[in-house]
Amino acid sequence: MQGSGIRRAFLAKYLLHQRRTFSQLAEKLSSVPGNDAPIPKIPPFDYSPPPYTGPSAAEIMQKRKEYLSPSMFCFYDKPINVVDGKMQYLFDENGRRYLDAFGGIATVCCGHCHPDVVKAIVDQTNRLQHSTILYLNPAIADFAEALASKLPGDLKVVFFTNSGTEANELAMMMARQYTGCQDIVSLRNAYHGNAAGTMGATAQSNWKFNIVQSGVHHALNPDPYRGVFGSDGKMYAKDVQDLINFGTSGHVAGFMSEAIQGVGGIIELAPGYLPAVYSTIKKAGGLCIADEVQAGFARTGSHFWGFESHGVVPDIVTMAKGIGNGIPLGAVVTTPEIAQVLTRRSYFNTFGGNPVCTAAGHAVLRVIERENLQENAHVVGSYLKERLTDLKDKHEIIGDVRGRGLMLGIELVTDRQLKTPAKIETLHVMDQMKEMGVLIGKGGFYGNVFRITPPLCFTKEDADFLVDAMDYTMAKM
Ligand SMILES: Cc1ncc(COP(=O)(O)O)c(C=O)c1O
Repeated sequence: MQGSGIRRAFLAKYLLHQRRTFSQLAEKLSSVPGNDAPIPKIPPFDYSPPPYTGPSAAEIMQKRKEYLSPSMFCFYDKPINVVDGKMQYLFDENGRRYLDAFGGIATVCCGHCHPDVVKAIVDQTNRLQHSTILYLNPAIADFAEALASKLPGDLKVVFFTNSGTEANELAMMMARQYTGCQDIVSLRNAYHGNAAGTMGATAQSNWKFNIVQSGVHHALNPDPYRGVFGSDGKMYAKDVQDLINFGTSGHVAGFMSEAIQGVGGIIELAPGYLPAVYSTIKKAGGLCIADEVQAGFARTGSHFWGFESHGVVPDIVTMAKGIGNGIPLGAVVTTPEIAQVLTRRSYFNTFGGNPVCTAAGHAVLRVIERENLQENAHVVGSYLKERLTDLKDKHEIIGDVRGRGLMLGIELVTDRQLKTPAKIETLHVMDQMKEMGVLIGKGGFYGNVFRITPPLCFTKEDADFLVDAMDYTMAKM
C-alpha cells in the first residue's frame, strides 16, 4: 500500500462493503487495472477426503449460536466448516483443500491425522482407553522416559496434565511450594492460560477477566519491535531486578515466560534477556519456568525447545499443544528435588497421563525424530522468513517480520514510523488469503500480527504459495 490517499480509499471501500463476502470483494478488486498477476495456486497433493454428508456450515453456526457459549468466536467473515485434515492441509464440507499455516494454533506438529499418531491412538483405544494412574500401565511410563530424554540437565520428572493452562497452574504452585514465596514475575503481553493463577500470569487485558489475580508482577516486555529498550535485553532485565527490589520482599517464587510469545504476536525475547533474568531470579531464591506450550517440540527449528536458543536451563518446563499433535495433553517437567513438593499433599489428575494421550505423545516424539521435522522446520522456516522479509521491502504495510523456524509473525502497520496497528487490513488480508486457500492465524495485543505456525511437515512449495497469496492480496490493496 503506497500513500495515505490510497489507504483512505481502500478503507472507505472496505467499510462500505464490510457486509459483503470477501470473495465478492476479491472479484471487485481483481478488476483493478494493471494487476494481472496470475492467482497463486495451491501445490498439488495426492489425497481426497471421503464425501461429507453432515450438516452445512450454516446449520452448524445455528447450533453453535443456540447451544454453545457465546464466548466462542470464529475466524473469517464467512467461517469455514473444516471436516477433514491430512498432513499440512485441511478440507471443508465441499472437499475444498486449504493450506493450513496455523496448525490448530501451533498444535498440529506432525501433520493432520498423521498415520503413526492415529495408529497409536487407535491401537491404545482398542486395548485400554482409561484406567487410572492408581494402576500401572506401560504407556505413561514409556512416554515419560522418552520425554525426559529430550530435556537437558536434571529435568527428568514428568507430571502429565490435559492442557497448557493446567501445566502452568501446576508449575506456579510448585514454585510457590518449593520456595515458600508467593511472588511470581511474568512478562507483559504474555499468555499462560486462563484459570485462576494463570490468568494472573497472563498479561493482556483482553484475556483477563475482572477477578482476583494476586501474586504476579508483570515486567516490561523485552519486545525488540515495540519495547522501550528495543533489542537491549540487559536493560529489560534490569526492570525485573527493580520489580524484585521495590515490589516484593526481595525473594520470589519464580519467573515464567515463553521463549517466543505466541498469542502475544510471535515476539522473540530480546537477546541476552533470559540469561540475565534467570540469574537475577536465582539470586532472589526463585525458580525459572519455561512455558514451551507453543515454542516446544521442534517448532523453532534451531532447537527442540525454545529456551535452548537463549542458552538457559529452566528449573521447570511446561508444555502442551504440539506434545500430542492435537490430542488433549500437557506436561510439567522438573527436577527430582522440586518434584518432591507435590508429596506434601495429595495431587491428582483424573485424565492426566491417560494411556491414549500418552501413547499419542510417544508416537509424536518418534515421528518428529524419524521424519526430521526439526530440521524441516529450520530449513523451510528460514526460507519462508526470507521470502516474507523480501515482501516487507515491497509492501509498506508490513512493519515487521519475526520469529524462527515455523513460528513466524508478520506485523501490519499503517505507518511504519508510528507503528500504527493495521487491524482492519489484517482481517482483510486474512480473509482474502482464505479465499485463495491459505489459512493463517492472527494475534498480538492489537490483533494486527499474522501468526504462521503450520504443521512441521510444511514444504517450500507451501511456503511459496503462502507468500505469493499474501503478495497478491497486498498488491491489490
Ligand atoms: C504459551 C501458552 N501457554 C499456555 C497456554 C494455555 O494452553 P491451553 O489452551 O492448552 O490451556 C497457551 C494457549 O494458547 C499458550 O499459548
